[in-house]
Amino acid sequence: MDSETAIRFEHFGSGEGRHRHGLTLSLSRVIRKREKLKNGARDSLSLPHPLFLQVLSSRLQHQISQTPKPSFSPPNQTKIPMKRVVSGVQPTGSIHLGNYLGAIKNWVALQDTYETLFFIVDLHAITLPYDPQELRKATRDTAALYLACGVDISKASVFVQSHVRAHVDLMWLLSSSTPIGWLQKMTQFKEKSRKEGGENASVSLLTYPVLMAADILLYKSDFVPVGEDQKQHLELARDLAQRVNNLYGGRKWKKLGGRGGSIFKIPEPLIPQVGARVMSLTDGRSKMSKSAPSDQSRINLLDSKDLIADKIKRCKTDSFVGLEYDNAERPECNNLLSVYQIVSGKTKDEVMEECKDMSWGTFKPLLTDAVVEHLSPIQVRYQEITAESAYLDKVLTEGADKATEIAEVTIRNLKQAMGFYI
Ligand code: AMP
Ligand code: TRP
Repeated sequence: MDSETAIRFEHFGSGEGRHRHGLTLSLSRVIRKREKLKNGARDSLSLPHPLFLQVLSSRLQHQISQTPKPSFSPPNQTKIPMKRVVSGVQPTGSIHLGNYLGAIKNWVALQDTYETLFFIVDLHAITLPYDPQELRKATRDTAALYLACGVDISKASVFVQSHVRAHVDLMWLLSSSTPIGWLQKMTQFKEKSRKEGGENASVSLLTYPVLMAADILLYKSDFVPVGEDQKQHLELARDLAQRVNNLYGGRKWKKLGGRGGSIFKIPEPLIPQVGARVMSLTDGRSKMSKSAPSDQSRINLLDSKDLIADKIKRCKTDSFVGLEYDNAERPECNNLLSVYQIVSGKTKDEVMEECKDMSWGTFKPLLTDAVVEHLSPIQVRYQEITAESAYLDKVLTEGADKATEIAEVTIRNLKQAMGFYI
């Protein structure tokens, strides 16, 4: 399909401090068949490529105009660093349509315009009880899925979080500036610790957002593309960056021999307007999740055609006539139309027009075909990547080396500013 489609991201203003305002950035993209690359590695892929950025906010327009596209930069131009984007997914359970539509698909759209680092957050995956027999495989599988979804290692660095020691180092340094109260009020902590039986929950479940802040601040990231559920953790990362800058940055740092100024950048979340919260197939009021007991509630990226058809056939619907968006009494309808919208590459208006008079019996096969068509090239590519195990190791080693280089500078700066003997 060659129709132009817009992914809209919500994010906070870049102004420092606690005052935030919503802005939208419209990323116009064309969905098209990718031409065969010389190495033939992507011949079966049909993936989105952003052609140009249409920026609604003048501030963002300014930012992006300052972001050179490497292939078009004149040779002698003063090099302005590209804005940086980081994000990650936990290697737990299987990656589902929520992870893909809320996060990974949008990473792919950003890698042409920004310097991107995508990690597999294995250290986060041990904050809840887990199976050590599975962590290693899940970590590799998640990396392979990133690539299969279109993360391109000629543009992005892909690595395993625990391979870059600086994540844990920074987490400890940041912990000393993090008030416990900030962590105790995190919604995800409250929900997950309740499930773990309150006091039995691990300390790492509480301190998890500090590790996430470290993941982001380590790389002086400008933008962090995530689903809606991570918004609160992103706010904490911003608050923490600000707090450390105030405590140790500026003149105090200069007196200790540092460069002065801010130690950390204040990152902004990029949350897509459609797909930020993909809901469960069995209950349109709760989000699609890896940890939901029933596999029927989610579509995993590696589910077979038949399984996808079966899950959609049996998913929860309603008895209203016709299909519509944004009816609070029809969360399942809104969710399924949104999924269809993204995987088919159509606009909301096009989907509304196409589906308004449809019955569920007509819509479900249409949705199934669109999901299968979207996921099957990803599945083919995933098989290719996992067949060559040395290739994945090489990608992850190179990614970790590149990340370490950037991360070590941040750790050194912060240690200096905090008065360590370095
Ligand atoms: P996790 O599975 O918790 O590691 O999440 C990885 C990424 O997927 C994060 O950016 C989440 O915000 C995003 N995500 C997880 N579940 C959903 C969902 N149901 N809808 C949209 N995004 C999601
Ligand atoms: N906490 C995120 C989640 O569970 C994953 C994550 C960890 C992350 N570190 C990150 C996402 C840094 C973006 C940036 O979904």
